[in-house]
Order: sequence, then structure tokens, then C-alpha cells
Amino acid sequence: MEVDRRAFLASIGGVGALSALSHEDKAEELEHYMEHMLDDLISERDGTEKVLYMPDGEAIALRELEQEAPRAPRGTGSLFMPRAREFAPMSDKPDLVEFFQKRFWPANHVLQSATYALETGQPERTIFACLMHDVVLNLIKVDHGWWGAQLIEPYVEERISWGIRYHAPLRFYPDESVGYEYPEMYNRIFGHDYVPEPYIREAYEFARDHRYYMEARLITLNDTYAFDAEKQVSLDPFIDIIGRNFKQPKEGLGFDNSPVAHMWRTIAHPNRPL
Ligand SMILES: [Fe+2]
Ligand SMILES: [Fe+2]
Repeated sequence: MEVDRRAFLASIGGVGALSALSHEDKAEELEHYMEHMLDDLISERDGTEKVLYMPDGEAIALRELEQEAPRAPRGTGSLFMPRAREFAPMSDKPDLVEFFQKRFWPANHVLQSATYALETGQPERTIFACLMHDVVLNLIKVDHGWWGAQLIEPYVEERISWGIRYHAPLRFYPDESVGYEYPEMYNRIFGHDYVPEPYIREAYEFARDHRYYMEARLITLNDTYAFDAEKQVSLDPFIDIIGRNFKQPKEGLGFDNSPVAHMWRTIAHPNRPL
């Protein structure tokens, strides 16, 4: 199999685009290109069409799919939305504050919920949990409570990540004892007849009877005060709180060999092809 250099260059956007890639990225691009080429050659040899299988089992020709207007899956975060420009480069040893500034910004919703927790005198771990409760939405939206908890688990006390994990299922269930009502917004988004899936209900029932229940419940409560188009917020009041509640790895987030380091690397470099 021979690679046509010009066709390869055209596929990645020309010589200019190639020179902007690191050596590893060039190698990845080439490998990816060759895999595609191999598939093309084999389907040509066999006289078959390359197909992708749809959720209903139907096989659609790749050629047809490529002509449809692309749309990022709704479960993916803003880091994977189509964009024309590069992301701001990260330093060699990025800390959480840098991730806020370069990847999670403008972060109004989480800053507003943490500000509300701060202003109403809630425990510092709750303030920090509110600050972190939805940042993973930039990466992924589906099951964001579980992803968000996992993202910070090695660096925080258990109650913080626990609260973030279970705020997601709990938000669908009211708790009059703290004044949490089912959000009207969900009726608009999910419809009045929405019934959470069984795994969400099970997670809620588990959390409701757990000694950490309030850790998650307070996040859902503070959430409802964090969609204010007028409120001014800043990260400044939280810098010291981050310092006391988040064990920043000295190697930098993404490079400490923790079980979640790869998640931070993906947030730092969403554009890497492999
Ligand atoms: Fe959330
Ligand atoms: Fe939220």
C-alpha cells in the first residue's frame, strides 16, 4: 500500500497544517490516514460499501453519512464542539486554577452556586463541591455527576466527590425539608411526563439513605440559585478554598499518574487525534 503524499497533506489541511503538528501528532495523523486508506482499498477490492450501523440496526453507507451536516453528539461538552481556532496552550504543570481559566471559563454557573454557598455560610467543602459540581460538563454531559466525581476523586476528601456524584440523580427528586422543589426548568427540558431511568432512581434511593446525603442535596439546592443573569462572580474568593480542599499534584494535573490523569490530559488537549 503506497501513500500519496499530496492526498495525505490535503486530508489534514495542507503543508501549513502539517508543520503545526508535533512529531507524534504527525505520526498519529498518518496512521489514521493509512487505516482509512486500507479500509477504502479493501472495500474496493471486495466491491462492498463501507457502512456504519445506526441505533435501529440499519446500515448506512459512510459516503452518505459524510454528506450530512455534522452535529456533535448532545452528550459531549463544549471542548468537543466544532471550532476554527486552537485552544489556549496549557503550561507544563497546570493546576486547577489554570484549568478554570483556560478550559472551564466563563464558568458562571458553578461560580454562582459556590458564591451562594459562601454567602450563606455553608461549610467550606460544600462551597468547593459547588465550585466543581458541573465543570466536567465542558468535557461530557451524559452522566455528568459520575464523571465529575471521578475527575476529582483522587484529590479531594470523600464527601466532596460523593456529593458531586449524587447531585445528578438527586436533582430529579424534591426534598421539602430543605426547600428543594423539582425544578420547573426540567419540565421544559425533559417534558412533564419525564420519569428518570431506573438506575437514576436507584442511585437516588441509595443516596437518600446514606450518611453523606446532605453533601449532595446541598449542591442541588445551591444549583437553583445559580442561573442569575445579573450576578457578578469571580474566581478570586475561591483561590484559597481550592488550596485547602484540592490536593494539587506537584507534577501538574494530567501528569501525576493518578487513575484520572488521562481525563485532565484530554481536557488540556481535546484536539489530539488519538
Ligand atoms: Fe449538575
Ligand atoms: Fe449545576
